[in-house]
Amino acid sequence: MIFLGVNIDHCATLRQARYRDATADGGAVEPDPVAFAAAAERAGADGITVHLREDRRHIQERDVWRLRDTVRTRLNLEMACTPEMTALALKLMPAFVCLVPENRREVTTEGGLDVVGNRDRVRDCVAAMNAAGIKASLFIDPDAPQIDASADLGAPFVELHTGAYAHAYFTPRRAGEFERLRAGAKLAHARGLTVNAGHGINYENIAEVRTIPHLYELNIGHSIVSRAVFTGVEEAVREMKRRANLET
Ligand code: PXP
Repeated sequence: MIFLGVNIDHCATLRQARYRDATADGGAVEPDPVAFAAAAERAGADGITVHLREDRRHIQERDVWRLRDTVRTRLNLEMACTPEMTALALKLMPAFVCLVPENRREVTTEGGLDVVGNRDRVRDCVAAMNAAGIKASLFIDPDAPQIDASADLGAPFVELHTGAYAHAYFTPRRAGEFERLRAGAKLAHARGLTVNAGHGINYENIAEVRTIPHLYELNIGHSIVSRAVFTGVEEAVREMKRRANLET
């Protein structure tokens, strides 16, 4: 079975659009990402993912602490590879962290974390997570140098960036981008890495995405939050999980 991690950042985006200045005791603040997470879990989500960005544009720190206390599956904290975020993760102790780029310097051409160009910082953070028993994942482009560097630095997981593929979905570049993902997943698996994937996955492209070999988990946010507006959270999650696990 392919596990489904539901990224709830955009529930918080909607809340922040109206309640950016609300304090924790500011009354009825909606929509609540914690309630979204609970509904997603009831519908079969295998994990809840949030990105605590340094600019706090959607998820806030208090959301992360509330989720730590309420998520019953596993909490996956996406974060920048910085000493501040490393310290926060060690206090929070989520089941997973996923290291993602937040500034231009850390980003490869397609948008994944540049592990090759930031070896020392990534190594320090991965070592701290490994020592604490937090499973670390590196959000990288599906290219051999980044995959090899991730394995060399001792990360147990990679999350292959599906954004370039999703972007090319209606263009002639789609087949090439998909082959890049397939080859990347095979290499990552051969190097002993567990393979996740995410970014830009929706109810249509999931049919092909799910055929990437060796997939452990897909992290999906925008399309699920968007569909939930019409169908409710539980139906949106149930349908994505069903599509992720159809027989091919
Ligand atoms: N995986 C990672 C590492 C992400 O940063 C994001 C959000 O950008 C996602 C998955 C989910 O992407 P989307 O919201 O496009 O489904």
